[in-house]
Amino acid sequence: MSRVYAAFRSIGAYAPKNILSNEDLEKMVDTSNEWILKRTGIKERRIASKDESTSDMAVEAAKKAIDRANLSKEDIDLVVCATISPDFFNMPSTACVIANKLGINNVQAFDISAACSGFVYALSVAKAFIESGMKKNILVIGAEKLSTIVDYQDRTTCILFGDGAGAAIISATLDKDEAIIDVRASADGSYQDFLITPAPGAVNPPSQEILDNRLCYMKMKGNETFKIAVKTLTSDVKEILEKNNIKSEDITHFVPHQANYRIIKAVGDALKLKEEQIVLTIAKYGNTSAASIPMAINEIYEEGKLKRGDLMLLDTFGGGLTWGSALIPFAPSKND
Ligand code: ACO
Repeated sequence: MSRVYAAFRSIGAYAPKNILSNEDLEKMVDTSNEWILKRTGIKERRIASKDESTSDMAVEAAKKAIDRANLSKEDIDLVVCATISPDFFNMPSTACVIANKLGINNVQAFDISAACSGFVYALSVAKAFIESGMKKNILVIGAEKLSTIVDYQDRTTCILFGDGAGAAIISATLDKDEAIIDVRASADGSYQDFLITPAPGAVNPPSQEILDNRLCYMKMKGNETFKIAVKTLTSDVKEILEKNNIKSEDITHFVPHQANYRIIKAVGDALKLKEEQIVLTIAKYGNTSAASIPMAINEIYEEGKLKRGDLMLLDTFGGGLTWGSALIPFAPSKND
């Protein structure tokens, strides 16, 4: 029997219309446009409206991805959604809600919780499901309404995050040239307090104290996370390239998680990447956690820069701590 590979067929994304600029944040907390730009590279981020949920944004991104893969909803046999801002804590999963809104019924659907690494984690799952022969067309989503878990009284976090969604179709192929080359995903829970939403959960069930102490919002040890991110990402991307015998000049698009321009620059410099190889969306979207990488891939797709056979290197780092990388040729369906 011929071997089955996983192909990255298509991409779609959705960004809410409402813009929260650095100047807007200056009026909310003790910060400045200069500080935010210099330390992070962020100019503005998008914020979903009150009646726009994580699943609503995901559905818009997913419709584009399904359409661009020349598939219909009936072809999808697995829905995986990476998110840390699900529609509901903790059931039903956002993937179930999305599948229902799309009219994809009676297929497996589940969420992945790996913070900013969620999309790469979801890709590793999709690749394994396809290569094992269990599924044929998987809808992989990263979607976040982070504005619901961001504390807009905490200047150390509220300047970083935004809302949005991205989606991709991963399909079975017999053509080895189309195959996702490698996906790496790792975690170290000993740093679990570096990025944490303390409540609600089994450790801190709902109480008045949680609201009083603002424990339902994201807390981050930013500077400590920054240092580990640079070190870990640099060694992870070097290892994935070495293991697969690929040189950094062979990478068409380096698509890093958009957490901080300084982290992206440090990793890019370590790989000696040229400016035109690096995909940057951080200035206009900020950090959208699991949505950031698919939103960035969508950006180059819609600008006409992503072509069949282009090699993408993804890298990501987030709460858990979790991190990962992936080597992916873009493989739209052949009749495109
Ligand atoms: N405006 C003005 N000053 C500020 C702000 C702000 N918004 N935030 C912090 N400061 C101050 C601090 O209080 C501190 O002041 P002090 O020197 O008087 O104590 C000073 O600026 C420096 O603070 P640091 O935290 O050391 O600043 P740093 O250069 O590390 O930048 C940042 C902070 C942007 C958060 C950075 O550390 C970072 O990007 N960390 C990594 C984030 C990340 O990658 N997270 C993983 C993904 S997110 C996820 O998984 C959900």
